[in-house]
Amino acid sequence: MKIAVLPGDGIGREIVAQALRVLQRLELPLEFEQAPVGGAGYEAAGDPLPAATLALAKAADAILFGAVGDPRYDALERAKRPEQAILGLRKALGLFANLRPAQVHEELTQASALRPEIVGGLDILIVRELTGDIYFGEPKGIRRTDTGEREGFDTMRYRESEIRRIARVAFEAARKRKRKLCSVDKANVLETSQLWREVVAAEAKTYPDIALQHMYVDNCAMQLVREPKQFDVIVTGNLFGDILSDEASMLTGSIGMLPSASLDASGKGLYEPIHGSAPDIAGRDVANPLATILSAAMMLRYSLGHPDAAERIERAVGRALREGYRTADIYTAGARKVGTQEMGEAVAARL
Ligand code: IPM
Ligand code: MG
Repeated sequence: MKIAVLPGDGIGREIVAQALRVLQRLELPLEFEQAPVGGAGYEAAGDPLPAATLALAKAADAILFGAVGDPRYDALERAKRPEQAILGLRKALGLFANLRPAQVHEELTQASALRPEIVGGLDILIVRELTGDIYFGEPKGIRRTDTGEREGFDTMRYRESEIRRIARVAFEAARKRKRKLCSVDKANVLETSQLWREVVAAEAKTYPDIALQHMYVDNCAMQLVREPKQFDVIVTGNLFGDILSDEASMLTGSIGMLPSASLDASGKGLYEPIHGSAPDIAGRDVANPLATILSAAMMLRYSLGHPDAAERIERAVGRALREGYRTADIYTAGARKVGTQEMGEAVAARL
């Protein structure tokens, strides 16, 4: 099986190297091929998503992705900025279903900013639609108005078919968990959300065994910190999902812990940590590689047909945490503070 490895920018290279270290230690017949993406793609080929990188991603069985983004490229026109690489990959490969599990490891309960009784044992899954919404809706741009001032605009759009297919992914996921689904929207204000709510409700008729609830996004943001354990599976659109998944990550102690899978209709996927490229700490061997290592586990489970190997990685991560290994972002007094590489090796050694 062939894996396209796209480390990207900032800490991307360091964290992906640790995921590869763990994957290679499994001794599975996996073939890896690296390609530049994001700012690195722009440097190499003048394009954040070089044609050769996209071709490699299309041909591979799965994609392991680091992170993209670098303030050095913020002044470029939007099409050349690093973020366009990940957005372009999601769109070009039809990766519409983004699974973002947020689990609190027992050992990290103390690392959360919330009280242990609020987050202890938390296990939720955010299902984020990934190829539609205001991220991709046209028209968008910055224009001159009649009075000569500039106006920025984006378009929030969802087709029924787009809502239906992500709703199905979420209902199916809920069926394998606690059979509880919360659909998040802003139907009190937005037409797009009104349709979202109608379509999800209609789909629920096919899933009579799943308890469906609708919630406004502002309330959901509040409930996530008030009583996060009320949730099991959350399904929402691209923009709301982006924001809520960052929020949910902090319940787990650190955004450095959350993996994700972005799947197409046939289960092919791109796997990446939900965090960004963190240019401020890049190259210093301090970034937490666990979100990327856990993303590699998701890749084995969802795209490569090795759920056993996925579990081995997840157990090894649990063991390393239990034995006190902590990167700076999840460090609490008394633990053993390690860098990116040492954390990667600690997991690999515990497979
Ligand atoms: C994420 C990121 C991306 C997004 C950025 C880098 C374009 O924040 O994966 O959550 O907004 O989707
Ligand atoms: Mg985000």
